[in-house]
Amino acid sequence: MPQELPAKRPEDGFRGAEGGVPAIKRKILLIGSRQAADEGESGEPLKNLILCGFMGSGKTTVGRLLAQRLGLRFADTDELIEEKEGRKITAIFEESGEDYFRAREREVCAELAQKSGLVVAAGGGALTFEENAAALGRTGVIAFLDVSPESVIERLKSDDTRPLLTGDREKSVRALLAARMPAYRRACHFAVNADNNPLQIAKEIIEKYESALKR
Ligand code: S3P
Repeated sequence: MPQELPAKRPEDGFRGAEGGVPAIKRKILLIGSRQAADEGESGEPLKNLILCGFMGSGKTTVGRLLAQRLGLRFADTDELIEEKEGRKITAIFEESGEDYFRAREREVCAELAQKSGLVVAAGGGALTFEENAAALGRTGVIAFLDVSPESVIERLKSDDTRPLLTGDREKSVRALLAARMPAYRRACHFAVNADNNPLQIAKEIIEKYESALKR
């Protein structure tokens, strides 16, 4: 049974076999509820933890949980685009088109790639673009939230904030998810099962993230 995830913005790495980003050697600080920091004990910048995956995979919900637990700050590319534009993602797509949105998304990814100590929830299409995946991948670890089409369909059944899911939703989820799968796998350092609930997903990411940082 797919686990329920809140629709969009509620309270809300190793690169797979394909490889590309160098292994990260340093440990993160597991500082729990302490104030979010962007430097580690030694003064080195903290690596970012970037979440990629399809719409409805739980990036935002899980990202907020992870930020809290790891003592990192949370950033969501869609929220940053909406703030800059002063309008919702649906309005941006409707009024200015997808290419315009992707250009704003690229800018936001480039800006985030200048920062450290972040958990980044990347919009579902963002890391399917090599340029964004490379820029963010250089700053830390990319986790892929691998979700089944069934979970996406269930979680987003009453959601109307995803402009790309028009028409026959089941068909478009299956087609787009399948088309993007190779890019997600290429972009990530490791994958987790995102059909689980947010707490389980966060736990699996922390385990894999920590073991990635030990290498
Ligand atoms: C998109 C996913 C959305 C948002 C936009 C496009 C995509 O983000 O960036 O609607 O191309 O998959 P979420 O993955 O947070 O829904």
